[in-house]
Amino acid sequence: MAVEVSGKKVLKDIDLYIDEGETHVLLGPNGSGKSTLFMTILGFPKYKVTNGEILFKGENITDLNTTERVKKGVGVSFQNPPAIRGVRLMDLLKVESGQKPDDEELSPEMLELAYKMKLDENFLDRDVNLGFSGGEVKRSEILQLLAQKPDFIMFDEPDSGVDIENVELLAEEINILLDKDKKPGLRKNSGLLITHLGYILNFVNADTAHVLMDGRIACSGNPSEIIEDIRKEGFKGCVQCCGIH
Ligand SMILES: Nc1ncnc2c1ncn2[C@@H]1O[C@H](COP(=O)(O)OP(=O)(O)O)[C@@H](O)[C@H]1O
Ligand SMILES: [Mg+2]
Repeated sequence: MAVEVSGKKVLKDIDLYIDEGETHVLLGPNGSGKSTLFMTILGFPKYKVTNGEILFKGENITDLNTTERVKKGVGVSFQNPPAIRGVRLMDLLKVESGQKPDDEELSPEMLELAYKMKLDENFLDRDVNLGFSGGEVKRSEILQLLAQKPDFIMFDEPDSGVDIENVELLAEEINILLDKDKKPGLRKNSGLLITHLGYILNFVNADTAHVLMDGRIACSGNPSEIIEDIRKEGFKGCVQCCGIH
């Protein structure tokens, strides 16, 4: 697949297959197009697929709009989600969890999840992401995914700007979202996770890692081996020695 953003060719030749129940990691230097790949899979209008297609559960979704893709089970935790003035977090959660918008209260199940994510009534009553700290934004993103229960979830740097204690909390819920509590053969949900430093991988097991460079997947292989290579040799060095994986 090739993708253009505002007339610029960002992704040149992406060939990626994620099987049911698998979690893949996406690594790559800043500006290599990781977030662009997510936006393209989500179907944001600015991101134009100029070649190739996106298949989801065997169906070609390349021409569907974002709402249709989300309804089919695609979910995302954004790197930098916008604040939404005038929309309370609890009202967004009601819609995402399938409650009626005019329900007075959030369901007990959702309330429990909110507390688990350390987002109490005070937060639920606030406008989405408005004045939230970095860590609060990430916890709100994961809480929204817990409400939506998508089948395929993209996490864009869920660990960036989050302190160690809260990374573990986020990882716990990411593991639930990705069926990690089930045996590998029984997992249904799959995921694609962008991480800059790989810290979250101490808590979330991934099956495969890919390195995105110059608009292409330059290397794929065992996540811990690839991350160790990147730490030692940098992205360029890692990609050069990729043949051995
Ligand atoms: N909406 C946009 N308009 C113009 N250029 C964009 C847009 N989104 C991304 N880009 C460009 O595409 C390249 C890849 O960006 P991005 O996908 O955010 O990289 P990464 O997430 O790997 O750091 C960058 O050069 C960026 O400036
Ligand atoms: Mg990014």
